[in-house]
Amino acid sequence: MTDYSRWDELYRRYPLEELGWELGKPRPILAEYMEKRLIPKGKALDLCCGAGTNTVYLAQSGLEVTGIDISRTAIDIAKQKAHQTKVNINFLNESFIDLPFNDEEFNFVFDMGCFHHVEVEERTKFIAGVHRVLKEGGVYMLTCFSYKNGPGWNHFTRQQIIDLFSGHFELGELRHYPSLEGDGVIRYFYTTLMKKKPLT
Ligand SMILES: C[S@@+](CC[C@H](N)C(=O)[O-])C[C@H]1O[C@@H](n2cnc3c(N)ncnc32)[C@H](O)[C@@H]1O
Repeated sequence: MTDYSRWDELYRRYPLEELGWELGKPRPILAEYMEKRLIPKGKALDLCCGAGTNTVYLAQSGLEVTGIDISRTAIDIAKQKAHQTKVNINFLNESFIDLPFNDEEFNFVFDMGCFHHVEVEERTKFIAGVHRVLKEGGVYMLTCFSYKNGPGWNHFTRQQIIDLFSGHFELGELRHYPSLEGDGVIRYFYTTLMKKKPLT
């Protein structure tokens, strides 16, 4: 068992309104990119889907969606949400460490607050896994904590993001912005859409 298993306790102990990342609506930047038609259609993977708010939005937007999360409780809540909103989503209680998918299965991988929780020594494997499950030309949308939140092992600068991902992906605009989170705290994020590169 790793520290990752602690997540389930958070979902069991607190109501969703008290979880910082849970906005109770889809991430505005996801909705913006969807409206601008920057999100590819087809099969989508929501990595660390949590209680499924963004996952349901992706399905409502016409994508064929799979959501995975390490927390069984989060997955149960997400399944209820999908049932209530009458969308069909494949929810799996799995870890991002060994993605249980075939190569080149997805057109789109959505990551809101997932990568920044990956242990430093597992980052390389995580990035290779996302690259592996994306189809050629597929898109990975990363949203992660920025250095502007103060010093932290998982608070990134623009240059760190470029250094970590540019071997596997062609990075687009790297947007840096404040966000009023579900717990009333303003946090800074980077978001970027990256296109899968063939490995040389
Ligand atoms: C900050 S929350 C973001 C949740 C969701 N993306 C959202 O925006 O509402 C991080 C999520 O990562 C999940 N998580 C943590 N470690 C994981 C792992 N090893 N594999 C899969 N999910 C994990 C947690 O259970 C939690 O739901």
